[in-house]
Amino acid sequence: RPQPCTLVIFGGGGDLSRRKLLPALYNQALDGELPANFAVLGFAFEEMNDESYREFARDGVEKYSRQPLDSEFWPDFEVKLHFQQGSFTDPKAYEQLKKRLDEIEAKFGIPGNRIYYLAIPPALIETCVQQLNQAGLVMPMDGVSPFSRIIVEKPIGRDLASARRINASLCENFDEQQIYRIDHYLGKETVQNILVMRFGNAIFEPLWNSRYIDHVQITVAEEDGVGTRAGYYDKAGALRDMVQNHILQLLTLIAMEPPWSMDANVIRDSRQDVLHCLRPIDRNNVEQSVVRAQYGAGFWRGEEVPGYRREERVDNASTTETFVALKVFIDNWRWSGVPFYIRTGKRMPKRASEIAIQFKSVPPIMFNADRNHPLEPNVLALSIQPNEGLSMRIATKLPGAKVRIYPVMMDFRYGSTFGERSPEAYERLLLDVMAGDATLFMRRDSVESSWIWIQDILDAWADNRSRWLPEYEAGTWGPLEADRLIETDGRKWRLL
Ligand code: BG6
Repeated sequence: RPQPCTLVIFGGGGDLSRRKLLPALYNQALDGELPANFAVLGFAFEEMNDESYREFARDGVEKYSRQPLDSEFWPDFEVKLHFQQGSFTDPKAYEQLKKRLDEIEAKFGIPGNRIYYLAIPPALIETCVQQLNQAGLVMPMDGVSPFSRIIVEKPIGRDLASARRINASLCENFDEQQIYRIDHYLGKETVQNILVMRFGNAIFEPLWNSRYIDHVQITVAEEDGVGTRAGYYDKAGALRDMVQNHILQLLTLIAMEPPWSMDANVIRDSRQDVLHCLRPIDRNNVEQSVVRAQYGAGFWRGEEVPGYRREERVDNASTTETFVALKVFIDNWRWSGVPFYIRTGKRMPKRASEIAIQFKSVPPIMFNADRNHPLEPNVLALSIQPNEGLSMRIATKLPGAKVRIYPVMMDFRYGSTFGERSPEAYERLLLDVMAGDATLFMRRDSVESSWIWIQDILDAWADNRSRWLPEYEAGTWGPLEADRLIETDGRKWRLL
């Protein structure tokens, strides 16, 4: 159960708080899931006080909440919100923070449990954790003291070296069990369902291997362009922004061995094993395995939009990729020889994230004689968003005297089956931290293993800087090179 606590949000006046964190807390409060003794303290450099912070939160809830703002309930929630202005590098600010926390805890009857949420640029993480520790704001894990936990947002570093530095500094100041590295994809309802689907049903697991599966496709397509985040994104690019974290985590859930319990570390061990088995992509095979590209001008919802290099705050000679497609192998017994095709990009025709498991074709012995209706292989498609659900393509006989075969879909949709909208990823994840459950968070070794694999690709790209970066028209599915990546293997990207 979530324990009574105060959540201190570093960078509490930023976009993540307004769009995600405060609405998530509001929804959980409304649903009666938050502990009764609970408070929020936003901590940031913005000029705000409790009152203006409550306004800020209200605006976020009105615009981004899953459930509409209930004006009768709002006052009960809003009294729990506080703000403390200060600089993350100033020791005095931490003294004030401590005083403020004592007051809040006394007022709300909170037994000193504190969660620090770092929604700040990675360059500031080391300073903040050191300052917290020096100010005596980190309690030991001795089973007696109230808990101190820390939540760290991505990106954890921008390469292997910086990720290691950040992790080292986190672990110097906190115990690994107090650290919750967030990857919000793991909090999505449909992503959590991968484990239940794979291991709560008897029919999939026996087929879940290279004998029966031809290949796997993972698509995370976004309709939006870079928006207002160019300052960060232009230094990151699609590989760092989406693949290093979210997509590799999806891949581990699809590919992992069955864990032997629901214990956080047992599940994380299974995920980690997959990362160890990723076949390296380096200068020797990068050309055949990875395509990167950048969006050019095009159309988006019927309107003309500029190319990436013309976006606000993007360097007009930028070679940052906004799209990446990869062919990945997992070198273990289960997945030997099965390609995982991955693609992700901004300014695609629509927002759609899907994992598709394509099974092998049946032997061409009985039915393939009918040329007009060649047999399509079975596909199990997990739709992560926006149309959450799961569908299975199955061959059936078209009614009639002849044997004609037609692929039909067995379809499950969350919306029509369960009605209400599922909680947002951040709702679930914040409650998990309050309850001390780290299952859906990244362990130090998994962050570093992902970076080790990504770093090879980054190094290979750095070797041939001058190489031309293909452009794709905004509102399309990426460059032709991405089609070629899969078509040379006699396969095709799925139409979404
Ligand atoms: C973030 C990335 O982690 O995930 C963004 O930094 C991306 O660039 C976002 O848009 C996608 O998240 P979601 O939940 O909207 O699919």
